[in-house]
Amino acid sequence: MKKKKALITGITGQDGSYLAEFLVAKGYRVVGMVRRSSSINTHRIDSLYEEPWIRDRKMELVYGDLNDASSINRIVRTVRPDEIYNLAAQSHVKVSFEIPEYTSEVTALGALRILEAIVASGVKTRFYQASSSELYGRSRQVPQSEKTPFRPVSPYAVAKLFAYWTTVNYRESYGIFACNGILFNHESPRRGETFVTRKITRAVARIKKGLQDKLYLGNLDAKRDWGYAKDYVEAMWLMLQQRKPDDYVIATGETHSVREFVDEAFRCAELDPKKHVRIDKRYFRPIEVNVLKGDASKARRELGWKPKTSFKELVRLMVRADLEALDREGR
Ligand code: NAP
Ligand code: GDD
Repeated sequence: MKKKKALITGITGQDGSYLAEFLVAKGYRVVGMVRRSSSINTHRIDSLYEEPWIRDRKMELVYGDLNDASSINRIVRTVRPDEIYNLAAQSHVKVSFEIPEYTSEVTALGALRILEAIVASGVKTRFYQASSSELYGRSRQVPQSEKTPFRPVSPYAVAKLFAYWTTVNYRESYGIFACNGILFNHESPRRGETFVTRKITRAVARIKKGLQDKLYLGNLDAKRDWGYAKDYVEAMWLMLQQRKPDDYVIATGETHSVREFVDEAFRCAELDPKKHVRIDKRYFRPIEVNVLKGDASKARRELGWKPKTSFKELVRLMVRADLEALDREGR
């Protein structure tokens, strides 16, 4: 049987790296779109290079940018992927208040550019859009499901709202097999260092090794539904294997405050957070999303997907990975 080909935007990010590994293991040929950077930023997919996968042409990288329609058109036309996973975004909520226009260009119009390229090229492909629980923002409903009205409260979330509806619109207008995965927060040792979970586990490891003394954080009362990224990429793939395209919430169904995450992470390293954690106003946002808690029963029912990793296991594996990384550096 012919190998399936998948195009991943955002392959150098947390989710892109796990998805690439998952698809290669499933026998896909993966093409990753990367943007030009002055320094090497492919550390999350380095392990893929060390495998014989590259030699066997199981994965290749091509230059492109979500802000450059011509590169997207060229890639879609020449690669002719069976599946496209649009994971690229300016994905930091707090930063989106500082660069709102750029965030909209990449995160909102980027999705539109890919969908337009699909229509213009006539390539028969399935499309996954990385939608977000940030869409719910200040929604009054808890837990949030596919039926909960959206109420986005950041430039990032508003951009994701545009991309969400554009995906639905192209599905309904052109019959494209296009799906939104409404993923709640998911973390891992590969999480960017400025997102709160990784900022905490990295600091815990550094404090344990005597490399740092204080950890400065913002709002500790916000609550999130935190899952493990490795579990979540399988849900993306499952969505594109269904008979009909649809939108799905992916979540654990549990919510925990940032404070709980802090306490658990410090407990894992037998440290006292009171001695090390300080509040810094710099890390507060102009408006906060207070509580996110997902209801993923549709995904469980229709995709057969459920999370495999508990909150405590997630915190533990992240702290352990950050400690081991310092050991490897000889710290
Ligand atoms: P991430 O680690 O921040 O990765 C973002 C990726 O997008 C990186 O590969 C980045 O490339 C790429 N990118 C940024 N701007 C680009 C541009 N103009 N053109 C091409 N590529 C660009 O994000 P993540 O946590 O893996 O999340 C993946 C996707 O899911 C994102 O769309 C995010 O908004 C969404 N999402 C994430 C979560 C979560 O909890 N992680 C939850 C819901 C939705 P560089 O490496 O060059 O920066
Ligand atoms: N980043 C950060 N840094 N957040 C902090 C800090 C801090 O020092 N202190 C407290 N927080 C709080 C934030 O105010 C927020 O309520 C919570 O921790 C989580 O922040 P992030 O880890 O930055 O993630 P996020 O929830 O804003 O956004 C992530 O999840 C979304 C899905 O709900 C990102 O991955 C988005 O791309 C994703 O769509």
